[in-house]
Amino acid sequence: MAGKVVLITGGTGGIGKATAIGLATLGARVGITGRDLSRTRQVAADIRAASENPAIDGFAADMSSQAEVRRLAAAILDTYPRLDVLVNNVGGFWAHRHTTADGLEHTFALNHLASFLLTNLLLDRLKASAPARVVGVSSHVQAEGRIEFDDLQGARDYSGQRAYSQSKLANIMFTNELARRLEGTRVTATCLHPGFVRTDFGAEDQAWFFTVVSRAVRPFLKTPEQGAQTSIYLASSPDIDGVTGKFFANREPKTANKVAYDTDMAARLWDVSASLVGMTSATA
Ligand SMILES: NC(=O)c1ccc[n+]([C@@H]2O[C@H](COP(=O)([O-])OP(=O)(O)OC[C@H]3O[C@@H](n4cnc5c(N)ncnc54)[C@H](OP(=O)(O)O)[C@@H]3O)[C@@H](O)[C@H]2O)c1
Repeated sequence: MAGKVVLITGGTGGIGKATAIGLATLGARVGITGRDLSRTRQVAADIRAASENPAIDGFAADMSSQAEVRRLAAAILDTYPRLDVLVNNVGGFWAHRHTTADGLEHTFALNHLASFLLTNLLLDRLKASAPARVVGVSSHVQAEGRIEFDDLQGARDYSGQRAYSQSKLANIMFTNELARRLEGTRVTATCLHPGFVRTDFGAEDQAWFFTVVSRAVRPFLKTPEQGAQTSIYLASSPDIDGVTGKFFANREPKTANKVAYDTDMAARLWDVSASLVGMTSATA
């Protein structure tokens, strides 16, 4: 990865930080994002020490806010004349319905729309750096996901589990639609399930039963280093040259929810997402 530039969203903890250490150890220049500037800078210093790679940059932005995502994208474009890999890792789980600064439901806004908007804002830079890769961190729960077009933001009926699995299915539909739109550009789009990993996932607003279950199973979960392996593989391996529109787990291609292969639904989700972030659907 020497000479390559990688941006990892949500790189201050859990799977994102372990992915950053892995790719920095392979020699890439790595940018990480987190909400708090001093924490993000501290983690960038930790990654420098762990990887013995000085080329680590920290960017602060609350990515649930579209204005912050736009500001982040501008800072990335200013800092990096090339961008070889974008890892859309940021995401979380909220047991109760919260709304963002834009008045959108938090899970959908952070887990799907933030990656949708950031990717679109960085796409020209990725195309100019081709071959380049966009890697999305989805989840196994995509299998239970449904895209509720008439209540995408759970305004009528919210459940944390439903909102989360919808957002993780949206990650795969976005990847597949992006891959179609990027055909011929040598920018590829893949996504993955990292496994069940011991991180701070869901800690901000956990359902009580989930707290009990996660305490009980915590010792049996993957370490963040193990959970980062498929992200690192998709971001860096020559095996993945030219591979696009595919979902992986344990570094192997997997079949996703059948909805993920519905091109009409994916195009519809793209158009709705573009409208929610104030972009024209022709982008990409
Ligand atoms: N853990 C699992 O078992 C598991 C399983 C399947 C999929 N996943 C997926 O893996 C990804 C990473 O999860 P994780 O388990 O590593 O979670 P985590 O330990 O909670 O880390 C989340 C990261 O996102 C950042 N973040 C959270 N809210 C943010 C916001 N509003 N704006 C900007 N950054 C924000 C956090 O940074 P700051 O707190 O510093 O802002 C942190 O770096 C997620 O997409 C998750 O859905 C996880």
